[in-house]
Amino acid sequence: MSETHSPTGSCSALRLDERLRDTRLFFSQALRTFKATGSVVPSSPALAHAMAEHVRERPVPGQPLRILEVGAGTGAITRGLADAMIPGDTADLVESNPEFAAHLEELLTTDPDLARIEANSTVHAKMVDEMGTDRTYDVITSGLPFANFAAEDVEGILDYYFSVLEPGGYLSFYGYLYTKEVKAVIARREDYLRQARTSWVVQDWIDRYGVRSDKVYANVPPAFVHHLRKPV
Ligand SMILES: C[S@@+](CC[C@H](N)C(=O)[O-])C[C@H]1O[C@@H](n2cnc3c(N)ncnc32)[C@H](O)[C@@H]1O
Repeated sequence: MSETHSPTGSCSALRLDERLRDTRLFFSQALRTFKATGSVVPSSPALAHAMAEHVRERPVPGQPLRILEVGAGTGAITRGLADAMIPGDTADLVESNPEFAAHLEELLTTDPDLARIEANSTVHAKMVDEMGTDRTYDVITSGLPFANFAAEDVEGILDYYFSVLEPGGYLSFYGYLYTKEVKAVIARREDYLRQARTSWVVQDWIDRYGVRSDKVYANVPPAFVHHLRKPV
């Protein structure tokens, strides 16, 4: 019996293979550096779509945006951004894990979903606090696992985002549902208290600048996405 492959079939098989590679790399890095990675699998397309809201729904249709993505990992959210980007948009993709950054560089040339933004995208293999303040952005998306960080670090990162965000610009970030409840049961007391302090900081920023929060159940684990806007 012979096998036939339609062009679409081999293309989607290739994509599935690439996603499996992303997931394997992500999982192996999560085992090594869970505090920084914050999850065991990359974000879902549904979460990527929600995170790209302010690239898709740009304030002035057709007007290019400067985008900063922090904690790009294996490019799961980048794919959502790429899908919403138009010619002229630029993206700075920041990722501190050198293995993820190298993988993302490669995907920008080999993955059809990402290759379309390759010319206007730059991967920065560094920590977000090494990015400097010489560039400003219209939209920032952050995939950093705030729940694993100290409250002062999260405050510093949110301050940084707002210092490089244009007035009227949007910051979108996500967190996982039920993190606090799970930590209350399984975490050591100091870790639970650290995370409680971190979530107060995050909530304070949401209270001051939040414009919308959405739940995304189609993700492992389910997540909420917060959209904040810097006052004009
Ligand atoms: C929860 S993962 C998100 C990855 C990807 N955006 C996704 O949604 O699948 C967080 C990512 O942030 C990166 N990261 C953690 N701390 C960072 C920092 N201070 N600066 C830049 N990237 C960081 C980690 O290496 C990891 O790839």
